[in-house]
Amino acid sequence: MTDHQNISLDWMSSEGSELRPPADLRPEIPHPARMYDYYLGGKDNFPADREAAERVMALGPVVRISARANRAFLQRAVRHLSELGVKQFLDIGTGIPTAGNTHEIAQRVHPDAKVVYLDNDPIVLVHSRALLAAGHGTAVVVDGDLRRPAAILDDPEVRRAIDFGQPVALLLCAVLHFVDDAEDPHGIVRQLVDALPSGSYLALSHGTSEFLPPADRGRGAAVYRTASARLTPRDREQVLRFFDGLELLEPGLVTAPFWRPDQEARGAETTAAIWAGVARKP
Ligand SMILES: C[S@@+](CC[C@H](N)C(=O)[O-])C[C@H]1O[C@@H](n2cnc3c(N)ncnc32)[C@H](O)[C@@H]1O
Repeated sequence: MTDHQNISLDWMSSEGSELRPPADLRPEIPHPARMYDYYLGGKDNFPADREAAERVMALGPVVRISARANRAFLQRAVRHLSELGVKQFLDIGTGIPTAGNTHEIAQRVHPDAKVVYLDNDPIVLVHSRALLAAGHGTAVVVDGDLRRPAAILDDPEVRRAIDFGQPVALLLCAVLHFVDDAEDPHGIVRQLVDALPSGSYLALSHGTSEFLPPADRGRGAAVYRTASARLTPRDREQVLRFFDGLELLEPGLVTAPFWRPDQEARGAETTAAIWAGVARKP
């Protein structure tokens, strides 16, 4: 159990009571944020999320390994960028808070670091706000959608928190695979990166099915077709294109456990099905 799981949201633990959640969480539909929470061993999920997550996990240990490796990549990337002097983070597709959130890692290095969390799932917004209200650090929580980059860049809360004249770290971790090809994910990333000054960074991770046996490659996406967002795994070449015009930091685009590991990646960990990289805008 993480520290933050001690923050109780009364409506969630009050089965059968009159308490109502502060937003329409649509518990009957699996949501990616809650499925991810389940993969990570969290408790902020409903039966429909767990049932869908179990169907994805039938693919094998790779699912939980990838979720954990992705989260660990996000944390190492935030720490590394903070150590490079970055003090502003725009974390899009934040996820439900768990141990080691972006603002905690960034503010350990720079107590005045600014962090904006932006997500389109009400459960993420509710939990993130509860965490901050309980005194666990400072950040801004914004209800927004990655598929509307212009609205993100114009959002008054985003603009108040982030100085677009100073370097920004844009975090797009395990979120772009929830944007269909028809929604132009590469164009979305370009539009966001174009708004950042030189010396800014993009930290990005993305699920892939290319290491699965061919017969299994469509199975994860089939489960997410019943969820609130569809899943589009992409291969290394497609993910690499998100970094067009940017300078990839060493070691380049690698599977998550191999991005500047704290200790050598070993055993099962090396099978993570998630590409990860960090790049600088020249
Ligand atoms: C797998 S979680 C990743 C969480 C976190 N970034 C991490 O890497 O640990 C994906 C998150 O993206 C959010 N998400 C999915 N589609 C989105 C969209 N179009 N706009 C904003 N957030 C989105 C989900 O609600 C969920 O919280």
